[in-house]
Amino acid sequence: MISLTTTVITITTPPTTQRNRKLRRISCNHKHDNATYVDNVNRRNVLLSLGGLYGATTTTTAPGLSAAQTTATDHPGGPVQPPDLTKCHLATDAALQNQVYCCPPYSVETTTQIYDFKLPDPSEPMRTRRPAHDYGQQNLEKYKAALTAMKGLPLDHPWNFFQQAQIHCAYCQGAYGQVGYPDVDIQVHQSFLFPPWHRFYMYFWERILGKLINDPTFALPFWQWDDPVGMQFPDIYLDPNSPLYDVHRNLNHYKTLMDFRYARGDPNPNSSDYPKIEGMNLHLINRIFREGLRTPSTFMGEPVVAGQVPRCPGQLQLLHDTIHQWSGPETSPFWDMGNFNTAARDPIFFGHHANVDRMWHLYRNFNGGNVEFKTKDWLDATFLFVDENNRVVSDSLDAEKMRYTYETEQLKWWNIPKSSTRSTKKTEEALSAKSVVPVFPFGPSARVLNTTIRALVSRPMPSRSNKDPVSEVLIIDDIRIGDEQQPVRFDVYVAKPIDGNKADLSDLGEFAGSYVRVPHGHGHGNATAYPQHCLLIGITCLIEDINAEGCESLIVSMVPRTGDITIGTVEIQLFNDAE
Ligand code: C2O
Repeated sequence: MISLTTTVITITTPPTTQRNRKLRRISCNHKHDNATYVDNVNRRNVLLSLGGLYGATTTTTAPGLSAAQTTATDHPGGPVQPPDLTKCHLATDAALQNQVYCCPPYSVETTTQIYDFKLPDPSEPMRTRRPAHDYGQQNLEKYKAALTAMKGLPLDHPWNFFQQAQIHCAYCQGAYGQVGYPDVDIQVHQSFLFPPWHRFYMYFWERILGKLINDPTFALPFWQWDDPVGMQFPDIYLDPNSPLYDVHRNLNHYKTLMDFRYARGDPNPNSSDYPKIEGMNLHLINRIFREGLRTPSTFMGEPVVAGQVPRCPGQLQLLHDTIHQWSGPETSPFWDMGNFNTAARDPIFFGHHANVDRMWHLYRNFNGGNVEFKTKDWLDATFLFVDENNRVVSDSLDAEKMRYTYETEQLKWWNIPKSSTRSTKKTEEALSAKSVVPVFPFGPSARVLNTTIRALVSRPMPSRSNKDPVSEVLIIDDIRIGDEQQPVRFDVYVAKPIDGNKADLSDLGEFAGSYVRVPHGHGHGNATAYPQHCLLIGITCLIEDINAEGCESLIVSMVPRTGDITIGTVEIQLFNDAE
C-alpha cells in the first residue's frame, strides 16, 4: 500500500502559519509554446515521480504497523500516517447521513505483512495514457475485457471493482481515524494530499487491470475536459452494454457541453453559446495554472499535518468537484459521481481522475519538474493500497518512476490572448452613472450568502510591482455550510473599483474562481462539529489582467449558486517566497 495523508486544523493556529508561502518567480505573462513544452517533457523522459528530494524513509515495517505509526503520538503534527487497518470502522454517506461499510476485505488478520512501495523496474514497458475521445478501438476492447474481469471477481476480492471503489469511500468518508488522533478522520480531499493520493489510486487500479488481461502496457484513458473536444461525456462511457457504463449519471448531460460554471439545476447551454462557454472553460484552466504556478497551495491545496482537519482545497480539486457534480444526478444522494462515497463506482471516475493527474503532471512540467512541497509533511505522508500482486504495500513520496505517461498534445488553454480573458466586457466610459454605487468593506461579522455580496477589499501592498517576490491571494474563510448533505457552490468575481470604492452593478468584473463542494466526509469522528471551510484564489495575474496594479482596494463579488452558505471573512494576503 501507499500512504499519503492530511493535516490537523487547529482552530487557534493563525491561518498564516498554516499556509504554504512558497512562491515560484513566474511572471503572469510567462509563455510556453507547445514545442518547448514537448521538448521539456521528452527530455525528462516523460516519467512521473512523486517527491523527489528524499530517498526512501522507511526501510523496515513491522507486520501491520509502520515505524511512523508507532511514534505518531510522540510527535504531534508531521506527515499524515497510514491507517491502522485493524481499526477500520463504519463510515458515513454524506448525502444520506447514514452509516456505510467501506472497509477493505483485508487487515492484519488476513494480511501478514505491509510492504514498502517499490517503483516498477525501469525496464518495464511504459504505459501511455491516451485521451478517452481518441482511445482507439483496440485499447477500448482491452479496457472492456479488463473491467469485465474485475467486475467478475468474487465480491470479497481486493481487486473486485466494487472493493476498489470502496477504497475511495474509506479514505474520504471517515472509515479511518488517524493513528494517534482517533477523532480526526483520514481525509484525502481539501488539502495538498489530494493530488498524490489520487495518483496512487489510479496507478494501482491501472496495474491491476493490466494484470487481469496480462498486458503490462495497459493504460487508462483520460477524460480530456481541458480541450473543447473533451468537454462532454466521452462516447466510450455511453454504451449501456459496456462495462464502462453506469446508470447513475445526469442523463440530461449526455451530448451537451460541460460548463465549468455549472451549478445544480442549471439548464443545458444553447449550442449557439458553445464557443463562448468553451472559451470561458479554457480561460479558467489558464487562470488556475498561471496563478497556481506562483503559489502551489492554491493549485494543489493547503498543507495539512497529522491531526489536522483539512479545510482548503486547491483550485485543481475545485474544478474537479464541478465535474463530479456535473456528471452525477441532480437529486440526493447524488450517486455515483456526485457523492464521494460512491464516485468510484462509475468507471468514468477513473477517466476523470486520470485527467486530474495529467493536470498535475503538466503543472510540474511547467514548473521545471520541481517538487511542489519540499516538506516531509507532504513527501512522507503515507497511504495503504493493495497492489497488482495482491499485496498490501506502503510507501512515502519517493523520487522514482512509476512507468506511465500521457500522450502530449496541443494545450488549447496555455497561450490565451489577454483580450479573451474578460468574461464580461464593459468600458468605464460606457457606464451609466446610476448603475455605479459605493461598495463597503465586508465587515467584521459573518454574512449569509443568499444574494450577491460585494465587498471592498483592501490590498496589503498596493504598490507591488512585477518584480516583488510575492503573490496576492484572495482568502475567503470561515465558510459555513448550512446543509452538508447538499452540493454547494458560489462564484467569485474581482473588479477594479471606480473612483477608488465604487462598483458598476451591471458588471461583476473578472471571474476569479468558485467554491464547490461535493458531499463527502467532513474529517471529524464526531459528526456534530463540521469544520469551517476556506477558499484560496490566486489573483496576482488577474490584477494585472484588469490593470488594477495601482489600486488600493478591489471589489470582490460573491455570487451564491447552490447550497446554504455563510461567509466569515474576505481578505487579500501576500504569500511570500519562503526560500
Ligand atoms: Cu477523491 Cu474525484 O475525488
